[in-house]
Amino acid sequence: MSEFAADGRDAVLTARDVRKSFQVGDRSIEILHGAHIDLFRGERLCLMGQSGAGKSTFLHILGLLEEPTEGEVRIDGKNAWALPTTERARLRNQHIGFVFQFYHLLPELSAVENVLVPAMIAHSHGDRRMDRAADRERARDLLVKFGLERRLTHRPGQLSGGERQRVSVARALFLDPAILIADEPTGNLDTATGEAVLELLLDEQRERDLSLLLVTHDERLSERCDRTLHMEDGQIQSDSAVVIPH
Ligand SMILES: Nc1ncnc2c1ncn2[C@@H]1O[C@H](COP(=O)(O)OP(=O)(O)O)[C@@H](O)[C@H]1O
Ligand SMILES: [Mg+2]
Repeated sequence: MSEFAADGRDAVLTARDVRKSFQVGDRSIEILHGAHIDLFRGERLCLMGQSGAGKSTFLHILGLLEEPTEGEVRIDGKNAWALPTTERARLRNQHIGFVFQFYHLLPELSAVENVLVPAMIAHSHGDRRMDRAADRERARDLLVKFGLERRLTHRPGQLSGGERQRVSVARALFLDPAILIADEPTGNLDTATGEAVLELLLDEQRERDLSLLLVTHDERLSERCDRTLHMEDGQIQSDSAVVIPH
């Protein structure tokens, strides 16, 4: 089940009227003031906006990692934040891969083991049977494809920034999600390293026909997306509804 836009495009994720407040001391500060989004099947959607605009907060809510104060996120036809916690975790695991600016890899685990984390979580929820040998092989294959054949047993602390981000892309893609959300995936990398990671992300998007939602500060990257949205002060400002084939 999915939603359809007026022009028949198929939305894999929609959000409406998303508000988010944080408690700071004895004050409640609203960061998102009714943000909305439609992510269509197979599209590359760029989200831009100044630091502090609320992009990461919005992405965490869309990625089902952080609860909104108000509003709705629909994935696979389901109102995700109205579901019980375990069902929401299942929805997240089955549909969404998330790439963070600062990787969020587990420091005690090797590259291969980090890639296997989503599979271990799905297994522990009873959603997916884990075949250790086959899964390790698949994790290895993905890392080899990403140029990490010599880094399989390294821990994050032994990897460069670019290598860490490749591991985290592999982790995000391991369970074959239809949606990939990436929050400034190259924001912490030097230009050349960042570009290489970006090419890898865009290649995977094309190959897997992923719906990609990407936060970036890079105008050139925005030109390689189908659409670009701008977030300003906790709201989505404009929707250049132009779909450019890539
Ligand atoms: N857990 C939190 N508690 C209080 N304020 C927060 C929290 N997380 C984010 N903020 C504030 O919300 C605003 C938006 O942050 P963020 O979503 O990270 O913006 P962006 O990703 O666009 O730079 C910032 O002013 C930030 O300080
Ligand atoms: Mg951010």
